[in-house]
Amino acid sequence: MHHPTLCAVAVALLSALPGAQAGLYTKKSPVLQVDGKNYERLIAKSNYTSIVEFYAPWCGHCKNLKPAYEKAAKNLDGLANVAAVDCDDEANKPLCGSMGVQGFPTLKIVRPKKGGGKPMVQDYQGQRTASAIVEAVVQQINNYVVKVEDKSLDKFLGDKEAPKAILFTEKGTTSALLKSVAIDFAGVITIGQARNKEAKAVETFGVEKFPTLVLLPGGDADAVVYDGELKKEGIVKFLSQAGQPNPVSPVKGNGKKNKEKNNKASDKASSSSAAPESKTETATQEAPVIVETALPIPAINSPEKLIKECLTEKSHTCVLAIVSSSEDEKAKKALGSLSELAFKHAQSKRNLFPFYEVSKSNEGAAALLKSLDLVGDVEIIAINARRGWWRHYDAADFGHESVESWIDAIRMSEGVKKKLPEGIVAIAVEEPTSATPEASSEATPDATEAGESEEATPVTPEASGDAADDSAESTSTQAADPTGEPETAHDEL
Ligand SMILES: *[C@@H]1O[C@H](CO)[C@@H](O)[C@H](O)[C@H]1NC(C)=O
Repeated sequence: MHHPTLCAVAVALLSALPGAQAGLYTKKSPVLQVDGKNYERLIAKSNYTSIVEFYAPWCGHCKNLKPAYEKAAKNLDGLANVAAVDCDDEANKPLCGSMGVQGFPTLKIVRPKKGGGKPMVQDYQGQRTASAIVEAVVQQINNYVVKVEDKSLDKFLGDKEAPKAILFTEKGTTSALLKSVAIDFAGVITIGQARNKEAKAVETFGVEKFPTLVLLPGGDADAVVYDGELKKEGIVKFLSQAGQPNPVSPVKGNGKKNKEKNNKASDKASSSSAAPESKTETATQEAPVIVETALPIPAINSPEKLIKECLTEKSHTCVLAIVSSSEDEKAKKALGSLSELAFKHAQSKRNLFPFYEVSKSNEGAAALLKSLDLVGDVEIIAINARRGWWRHYDAADFGHESVESWIDAIRMSEGVKKKLPEGIVAIAVEEPTSATPEASSEATPDATEAGESEEATPVTPEASGDAADDSAESTSTQAADPTGEPETAHDEL
């Protein structure tokens, strides 16, 4: 029995399969095909939100998803990136692995941080219909549109030199289309939105109907009113008279819309993993890092230090690997995984909560384990004393991938947070030596084996991706609109 929505196959097993299959999406597909080489540039560094499907061409659920996914891509054209990565392709495996992909298809929404930095990556676990996907992605589009009200009008107009545009509208919400325009012109033209009830603003620009888009090119130039079709293309062209949009807007298919050239590599990547790419790209590419070295995990040796670093009411998240002996095989594996992860995050200059190694002979740690009812030889926990929660790493295997997906879940604030029992912080403060000897003698090496993983668990491989038993997910295969779903319009102001 496999999970009904996963083509349950361990990524690790893929190497056993023939690698030269064609991807699921053709070159004409509206779905952007991304690989290990251009992921960073097209997705991770985009100002646009993306949804990325990690798939294998032989996977039945992936094939079933295709019509809905292509429809979502059409609906989101110009608003977000709808991308797919073929994890069967040898060259993409490091990327799929580093994204914690454990079954197919895996859908992730990648939302850029405003102002740069690492994007947020969340699993998409909603329905696999075009409309559900579109809605989920639309909700995650960053909003750079400034709300303009009468009382803030002067401030908005403050810098006379800087180009701006205001959409006057009867709506109180900002459309995905206007958000996408603001993303295109982020840092170039400030985009505002004013409601019809903002009488002073409406009067200032002599607006008589709604919606009306007014461009203030900056300097002495007069305001210009847009009179074209209220579609993205026309609007972008109109605004371009005051400044060029950012170069990378959501790209389609194989990235033909993309003005940059080195895209071509994506077409060839499968046949040649050594395809030359621009140097900057290779250097900044984070995903496929196969860890070559590791950062040692600092040890906390005294109960006082444990309190100071992690257990005061001001303490932020700490990850503690509490081990009976760091020479123990399991402990070595756990600490090794954390070291590699620490290194990887340090390399990509990502700020991550600290990891510490704590010996069970540290009485503070023993007391902590006891109050959390943890009895394993090796226990990894995340604890946030300030917010009063903790999380337990309860997978049986302390391998790199498994630990990494657990850490990622914490970063994304996913998964189960448990409430810290009363008095943990206080107990530790008042009586750091209150450890009871049972805490360590009760330890059973098997305690963690029974733990259930919070992550998708690879089950038996299903190499043929038998589409027949998947039929429930997609019943119709008509060519015109195979999804049979109603249209969702987000291409209006
Ligand atoms: C993203 O937006 C910033 C302004 O916030 C801009 O400087 C940068 O060029 C944009 N990047 C892309 C890839 O469009």
